[in-house]
Amino acid sequence: MPRLTINGKSMDVDVDPSTPLLWAIREQAGLTGTKYGCGVAACGACTVHMDGQAVRSCVLPVSVAVGKQVTTIEGLATGGVLHKVQKAWIDHEVPQCGYCQSGMIMAVAALLKDKPKPTDADIDASITNICRCGTFQQVREAIHAAAKA
Ligand code: FES
Ligand code: FES
Repeated sequence: MPRLTINGKSMDVDVDPSTPLLWAIREQAGLTGTKYGCGVAACGACTVHMDGQAVRSCVLPVSVAVGKQVTTIEGLATGGVLHKVQKAWIDHEVPQCGYCQSGMIMAVAALLKDKPKPTDADIDASITNICRCGTFQQVREAIHAAAKA
C-alpha cells in the first residue's frame, strides 16, 4: 500500500500506485478542497504542492508522490495563520463560485515562493489555471497585493 505524506501527516492509501494523486487526496485522506475539473492537466483545479512545487494532481500517479511532501489547500495556513495569498484573496474578494480557487491559490503560492515580485508576464506564464467565473483580473490584483505583503 503506498504511503503518502500530506500536510505533514503520513498515511497509507488503499489505491493502486498508478491512481492519480487527486483521488488519494480526496477519497483516502478526505481532503476535498482540491477539486476535479478536467482530468487532463488543463485547468489547474487540482493543483497541490509536491516538495513545494505546484503540480496538477489529476495526472500525477500516487507512486510519484511517495517520499515527497504533499501540501493541499487545507495545509497552506501554518499555525492557524492564513498564508499571505489566502489573505489577499479575502481582501480582494477574488472567489466567485470558488470551484477553481483552491487550485489557483496553490499555484500562486508556489509562484510567489519562486518569484516573490512577479511581473504581469510572470503571472501570465505561470498561472494558467482556468476560472469559468472569469476572476482573472481580481486574481492578478491579489497576486500583486500578496507580493507586497
Ligand atoms: S482537474 Fe487537474 S488540471 Fe483540471
Ligand atoms: S471562481 Fe468560479 S470557476 Fe473560478
